[in-house]
Amino acid sequence: MYSRIAGTGSYLPEKILTNAELAQRVDTTDEWIVSRTGIRQRHIAAEDQRTSDLALIAVERALEAAGVDKSEVDLLIVATTTPDSIFPSTACTLQNKLGVHGFPAFDIQAVCAGFIYALSTADQFVKSGAAKCAVVVGAETVSNLINWEDRGTCILFGDGAGAVVLTASEEPGILATQLHADGRYSGILKTDARPKQGELVGDPYVYMEGNAVFKFAVKALAEVAESTLAKAGLQKSDVDWLVPHQANIRIIESTAKHLHMSMDNVIVTVDMHGNTSAASIPLALDAGVRSGKIQRGQTLLMEGIGGGFAWGSALVKY
Ligand code: UT7
Repeated sequence: MYSRIAGTGSYLPEKILTNAELAQRVDTTDEWIVSRTGIRQRHIAAEDQRTSDLALIAVERALEAAGVDKSEVDLLIVATTTPDSIFPSTACTLQNKLGVHGFPAFDIQAVCAGFIYALSTADQFVKSGAAKCAVVVGAETVSNLINWEDRGTCILFGDGAGAVVLTASEEPGILATQLHADGRYSGILKTDARPKQGELVGDPYVYMEGNAVFKFAVKALAEVAESTLAKAGLQKSDVDWLVPHQANIRIIESTAKHLHMSMDNVIVTVDMHGNTSAASIPLALDAGVRSGKIQRGQTLLMEGIGGGFAWGSALVKY
């Protein structure tokens, strides 16, 4: 038994924040941001939009694309670093907003690797027969964690949500997944804040040592691509599309180069979305599917890395 992606959906908030607007707030330029990151704009959630609101629209679109009624869903996993609240989980809130009840719903917190962690977890449920129709969501309102005076981070991130519907199938779907974590690197990318007795203590903003993160990401993503291909018994040349986490175009180019892939076979949304953390891979996947680039029967390699450090990849027959 396999789990197969039956449909994808995504949602981006209406408000767009351009590099030019950021250059009015901090000491930066459009030229610097584009050349160092590939980012041109990002979407920012409205004041009253919570992560579950973004997720709800993405899930409704994914269910529609899959031709699946919400009453058939028997597992809901939300990957997020920016939950609606400390508890209940965003997944429980989203389940209620969807108007369906009873089946397991929970969040996964693996920052930018969250969607890969959630997809891999849902795959285990489906393969074991514990679920038949899983909805996996990556949704974030990262803008709430951004210090808009820190030019090193405020240019990078954006908000959004992406979702997939996974159904049980005898035809190959998810071929292999690999997950990794190494807490020794937790200090180079973090948001320290925690609630304590009615107050938030610690820094509530994203802190990042950009260069160290960059180096770690390039190496880890190359290694995990190799090991996931080996696990599935496939070669680099078998991959039709790379659907990477969208953090920086230079990291994406380096991974593609390592896989001997042309950038023509890479789904790139970082220019339009920025880094949307756990939402970035399902947003890119949905963009690839809806643009007609990704076709049924093709082999996709998705991979993500972020705070923790946590990283992983998934090889999928679409
Ligand atoms: O989702 C996973 C997590 N995130 C990532 O994967 C991001 C990984 N890191 C990166 O994408 C890059 O490290 C950055 C885009 C964040 C930074 O690019 P970089 O090429 O590593 O630049 P840098 O940090 O080495 O900084 C180079 C210079 C510095 O000036 P000095 O010290 O050379 O005078 C920075 O102060 O660029 C300066 N700088 C900026 N200049 C204009 C840093 N941010 C900016 C800015 N505009 N926004």
